Amino acid sequence: MNLIPRVITSVLLTIPLVATALVLVAAVLIAPSKALAQNGQPSIQQLLEEPFLDDYYSNVVYGYEIIIDTQKNASRYVGNALNCSNCHLQAGTQKEALPLNVAGMYPKWRAKNGKRNGIGLRIRECFLYSMDGIMPPEDAPEVLAISAYVSYLSQGQIMGAEPEGRGVPTLPDTGYDPNPANGRAVYLAQCASCHGTQGEGVAGMPPVWGLNSYNKGAGMNDIREAAGFIWANMPLGNGKSLSHQQALDVSAYLNLQIRPSDPRDSKFLKLLEHLIN
Ligand code: HEC
Ligand code: HEC
Repeated sequence: MNLIPRVITSVLLTIPLVATALVLVAAVLIAPSKALAQNGQPSIQQLLEEPFLDDYYSNVVYGYEIIIDTQKNASRYVGNALNCSNCHLQAGTQKEALPLNVAGMYPKWRAKNGKRNGIGLRIRECFLYSMDGIMPPEDAPEVLAISAYVSYLSQGQIMGAEPEGRGVPTLPDTGYDPNPANGRAVYLAQCASCHGTQGEGVAGMPPVWGLNSYNKGAGMNDIREAAGFIWANMPLGNGKSLSHQQALDVSAYLNLQIRPSDPRDSKFLKLLEHLIN
């Protein structure tokens, strides 16, 4: 008579045990073999360790390598001593340092060239101005690879919506004009140790003016744009330590220095510069 309730009790007792075991097994089965980074995608480090990559991921890795070492991996289109990641910090992953997770923002109309730009044209223009180089053709492998890397970084963003921390911060109006003379003092005290008294860059640090720097048509040559970048990120490792006014002043000082001309101004001047260089 007692048998049935006892069986029922033991069955009832085993149910939670079995359920727990099943959950554990399921967890092991569902869990990815490797930890995932970059919004559910393998991290660059993981991709670099793979013996074989499909077409998409091999382009992603190539794009990443161009961003961090443009000098070596896209040299034929580069005219100065910079790498993309000197401005797009942490290989384009750092907020307020011109992050590259912007695939969803294109195509977009752009006042600079007066037309709708796809991500390809946007990338090619940074070669022309920021890298003071030659605009690569649309279907250059370098452009396609960087586009793939931009898509990879943009995974998880909402298409058409501005990613958080895009571009650089817009500094509020301080009520004073940017003052290059004050900027020179800021530069000598806070920047010259890394970027050199002549802006030439010291021991592997990138130049901030001179013929090896970005040209006059580059976004970084815009005083407010550069001020936002400098305020948020410089001195490197100590961002947001300058006042807004100091950032504007030092930016105005950089803007006055000699650098390659805007390629839209004169092809002849450009040729001369490259001969001198
Ligand atoms: C000297 C600094 C500098 C370097 C070097 C540089 N860029 Fe940029 N880049 C900028 C600035 C500043 C902007 C934003 C302002 C603008 O639109 O002009 C920008 C914008 C971009 C954008 C659009 C970002 C957005 O928010 O829509 C892309 C894509 C881009 N750069 C790609 C590149 C690539 C690829 C390289 C290397 C081949 C490169 N950049 C090198 C400064 C630089
Ligand atoms: C501790 C060294 C250091 C100091 C100090 C420093 N920077 Fe930089 N700066 C760097 C490095 C390194 C990069 C490139 C970052 C990278 O590649 O990850 C950079 C990038 C830049 C860039 C964009 C790339 C280029 O070369 O045009 C500008 C502009 C810039 N710094 C301006 C400044 C200004 C202005 C100051 C002073 C307020 C300053 N930096 C202080 C190390 C420094």
